Amino acid sequence: MSLIEVKDLAKVYKIPKRQAGMLGALKSIFKKEYTTKTAVRSVSFTISAGEMVGYIGPNGAGKSTTIKMLTGILVPTSGKVLVNGLIPYKERQKNARQIGVVFGQRTQLWWDLPTQDSFELLKQVYQIPTKRYKQNMDTYNEILGLHEFLHIPVRQLSLGQRMRADIAASLLHDPIILFLDEPTIGLDVVAKSKIRKFIREINIERKVTVILTTHDMADIEKLCKRMILIDNGKLMYDGELAKIKEMYGDKRIMVVDLEGDAPLELEQVTVLKEENSRKWLKFDARKLTPAELISKLSQHYEIKDLTIKDQDIEVIIRHLYERKEKR
Ligand SMILES: Nc1ncnc2c1ncn2[C@@H]1O[C@H](COP(=O)(O)OP(=O)(O)OP(=O)(O)O)[C@@H](O)[C@H]1O
Ligand SMILES: [Mg+2]
Repeated sequence: MSLIEVKDLAKVYKIPKRQAGMLGALKSIFKKEYTTKTAVRSVSFTISAGEMVGYIGPNGAGKSTTIKMLTGILVPTSGKVLVNGLIPYKERQKNARQIGVVFGQRTQLWWDLPTQDSFELLKQVYQIPTKRYKQNMDTYNEILGLHEFLHIPVRQLSLGQRMRADIAASLLHDPIILFLDEPTIGLDVVAKSKIRKFIREINIERKVTVILTTHDMADIEKLCKRMILIDNGKLMYDGELAKIKEMYGDKRIMVVDLEGDAPLELEQVTVLKEENSRKWLKFDARKLTPAELISKLSQHYEIKDLTIKDQDIEVIIRHLYERKEKR
């Protein structure tokens, strides 16, 4: 049975029209006019217990709106949402006990209180037994290094510290599902990598089901087997990340330092860039293996140095976004 079930889900925002000037403002009091914005249209998917899914799409695609409907913050305009058997907006408090939520853009913690106090408050709110609270604080402290800033008010924390605090806070009450809306936004590479490690551990060791939105393709690549892609409120792709890579071929980039004057013309190879003796070569590993390419190159050149990397998932996703724009 699926843990999360979303069927034909839609959200249309109603936005009051503001008329210009005093007279306009007066008119609006008596006769409200609205425009509408369809943020999510007919989205369906199911997620099983234990999965870690990347929910991705360009700015304004409807990701946060979906998360807000799953967490019960927003009421859907139509369609069905079930989270572990609960309808989130109808049973918001009950749902809150089984889920954790982090909105990377905005803290859920008390801005003016020392970080420690926010945790204590959450302990009260969720009635977490003292023993369990201590165990969890110890574990999260160990991985996320909370102790260095527990005494500091949330508003004085650095972005990285605040994100660590928010993530720990979302997990204090042992939720079975964790929604992360851009949990690595604005963080440096070291902080990102720490947070990814923590998310992976939570998913594997505590079996927490994770739904993650991000604009960082490395997050998806490092964390999620499955990706749900939406754009303009519509579902564009739902499946394994590896399949998408396959669809676009097994493209690799070889960076080589070559010595020799022969002009570089190789079948099945595109030269992306050249800088003195260094060349960036793109090839499809299904048609030409790296070993074959090296052997061809070494017939004409001396190879001084060489590295091979996969085509970035970022490039593939960009193709997917662009393909839709042309439709
Ligand atoms: N409260 C609101 N009232 C009116 N329109 C809204 C509201 N919240 C979001 N929207 C609109 O709905 C669409 C989807 O917004 P949403 O925040 O879900 O996108 P997103 O995929 O999370 O984007 P981002 O990657 O920028 O966070 C956007 O066009 C946005 O302007
Ligand atoms: Mg968003």
